[in-house]
Amino acid sequence: MSELRAEGVASKSRGQWNSTFGFVMAAAGSAIGLGNLWKFPYLAGKNGGGAFVILYLSLIVIVGFCLVLAEMSVGRKGQSDAYGSFKKINEKCGFIGMIGVVTSFIILSYYSVIGGWILKYIGSYFAGGISGGESSNYFVSLISSPLEPLVYHLGFMMITALIVLGGVEKGIERASKFMMPTLFILLIFVGIRSVTLPGATEGIKFFLKPDFSKITMGTFIAALGQVFFSLSLGMGVMVTYGSYLKKDGNMPKDSLTIPFIDTIIAMLAGFAILPAVFALGFEPGQGPGLMFVTLPAVFDKMPWGNFFGGMFFVLVFFAAVTSSISLLETSVSLVVDQFKLNRVKAVILLATIAFILGVPSSLANGILGETMIFGKNFFDLMVFLTDNILLPVGGLLLCLFVGYIWGPEEALKEITNNNKLKFKLGKLWIFGIRYIAPVMLGIVIFNCLK
Ligand code: PHE
Repeated sequence: MSELRAEGVASKSRGQWNSTFGFVMAAAGSAIGLGNLWKFPYLAGKNGGGAFVILYLSLIVIVGFCLVLAEMSVGRKGQSDAYGSFKKINEKCGFIGMIGVVTSFIILSYYSVIGGWILKYIGSYFAGGISGGESSNYFVSLISSPLEPLVYHLGFMMITALIVLGGVEKGIERASKFMMPTLFILLIFVGIRSVTLPGATEGIKFFLKPDFSKITMGTFIAALGQVFFSLSLGMGVMVTYGSYLKKDGNMPKDSLTIPFIDTIIAMLAGFAILPAVFALGFEPGQGPGLMFVTLPAVFDKMPWGNFFGGMFFVLVFFAAVTSSISLLETSVSLVVDQFKLNRVKAVILLATIAFILGVPSSLANGILGETMIFGKNFFDLMVFLTDNILLPVGGLLLCLFVGYIWGPEEALKEITNNNKLKFKLGKLWIFGIRYIAPVMLGIVIFNCLK
């Protein structure tokens, strides 16, 4: 009893979600980000449309769900930050969590640079929009200028830090409960506008018309990589968020809901973006080019374009900031739990370091553009390091940890609240975490090394 009480007190002092809805919004907020908005629609269109979507959905169900549940269970069992949770379960395995924390911290540094560009665009739309013919110059001159993007990067990092300063419940949960439903409504609005434009069907065809001949090994790897990045897996985020769960919740259900919402938003993004791009005579692309060059040109030609453009960048901002708070929280949680620093100091310290680490990424599009490391500029190097190396390795170690070191039976006890919950997919989950997911990740790592 006294042990129970001690555990309750300990977890209270390190923060806890106040409601399931709040937790699901925060975790979905982490998952839903630029990956859904600027990568998924194009990836699907380019790689076989409906055929890719079917492949992606299968991977979400098989690998995504398995790993979300595995990460959350490690966190809830350990009741500590990502490093501490792994270490509590097995003394020698803290390093797995540490890899995750490092990954999420690096991602934060460049995610915030992009977040800064989004802030700038919101400002531009409020100030009257961006002229279509100029959108490419506008973007290039923004990102290549030395000072301006840094100021916006600082602004974005400060907003992220302010929310995280508020703590788990009053900061992260509260912000997510407001931002995620608003994002959803804005996306529906933009989507309706997009699919009702004359000529929109071309875009829908590009997005969904199935072409199974495009499904190759490369497509498979791209789809799996997208599952990982999009669900914020392999980087300690879901472990950290899981550690703030109350012990009596329903983890199996939550770990189905989060990938489900993430996928719905990715699909909606396809309907919001591609039909408009095609209807107004543009070619789709992905990444920054799509978001910061093509879409402003699309909005400029669209009736009420400035209004929808402004709305769109606000929703992109909500998606990005709910992801960046999860990235910052992952390392804040480590510093608070391991070094007993108070939250305010930890947030200020880590946000400052992440800001500084983001500086060369920001300058890589301008004055540091010629400085190459391993043939890549600093920004691209950071993206490559996290997406192609750290994420799959972190994911693989997680599977091996849960599948073979901690042991899936033990993990299932945590997942089912000591057999109080029915979890019909238990056996399948064990099979997924021990065999399917590690093999798939092994293939990805093997191909990256090649
Ligand atoms: N899942 C986010 C996206 O789709 C990115 C992200 C990665 C967020 C890792 C947090 C952690 O953009």
